[in-house]
Amino acid sequence: MPVMGVGTWQLTTDTADTIATALKLGYRMIDTSGDYGTQPGIADGISRGGVERADFYLVTKVEEVGDAYHATRKNLDELQLDYADLMLIHRPPRTGAGEDLWRSLIRAKEDGLTKDIGVSNYSIELIDRLIDATGEVPTVNQVEWSPFGHSDDLLRYAREKQIVIQAYSPLTRTKRLGDATLAEIAAKYGKSPAQVLIRWNLERGTVPVPKANQRQHLEENIDVFDFDISEDDVETLNGLNERYSSLGTLPYV
Ligand SMILES: NC(=O)c1ccc[n+]([C@@H]2O[C@H](COP(=O)([O-])OP(=O)(O)OC[C@H]3O[C@@H](n4cnc5c(N)ncnc54)[C@H](OP(=O)(O)O)[C@@H]3O)[C@@H](O)[C@H]2O)c1
Repeated sequence: MPVMGVGTWQLTTDTADTIATALKLGYRMIDTSGDYGTQPGIADGISRGGVERADFYLVTKVEEVGDAYHATRKNLDELQLDYADLMLIHRPPRTGAGEDLWRSLIRAKEDGLTKDIGVSNYSIELIDRLIDATGEVPTVNQVEWSPFGHSDDLLRYAREKQIVIQAYSPLTRTKRLGDATLAEIAAKYGKSPAQVLIRWNLERGTVPVPKANQRQHLEENIDVFDFDISEDDVETLNGLNERYSSLGTLPYV
């Protein structure tokens, strides 16, 4: 799995152009979902992007209602792909942990529709319930994750189980880019606050999927491989945690 990707929720620019540009800039992971409406545009962008299928990693999601196997096939049709790299349950259903959805995704994986399967917006308890029911450990839990909202408990658990934490809304949907401590650290490294938020993930082995409509943002967000954040500064950023969620509540605390 690439160490970072590009998100596609609420892209307002032409999705195909944005994805073709992202691939040309060096992004190798694309995050989408059946309900984002971006899959057909991503298909076009991939065909224009000039990157072989084996060289990019496609993440998509099935909803918590309906037949996950059928939804997987539908996503692949929209994406014009034979397989996904990672298929996630978008969020847990209202009741239960989604054991039946999980069994359908296991079948989709066995049938070669996706290389890996995982979850999104899951707590430790709900992941344990999926594992208890099936023995299958999710490859990924994709959750809202930034210095302002994260969890040591979830990170420790994920490391123990070898589950990758993918960080969505890693730029706090811009809400916290003006934070004074973040600005101070960014200035110290000669980088932008957004670049520091992305790099903070890379330092800790979590995998951010920042979204950007603007080409300048796409360029900036992938220009994060020429610096490291010191352990002390990572600790300072960790300490900004206030369980902040730009979307409402963190599902895992
Ligand atoms: N699994 C889930 O339930 C779930 C939920 C939410 C999101 N996600 C995934 O995570 C992805 C990212 O999250 P998100 O879209 O919510 O928020 P985000 O990536 O935290 O923030 C996107 C916002 O940041 C701006 N931005 C991007 N790069 C910037 C930069 N370098 N400097 C300043 N501003 C910058 C973007 O502006 P422009 O667009 O104008 O460039 C956009 O307004 C989504 O697109 C989606 O793929 C998953």
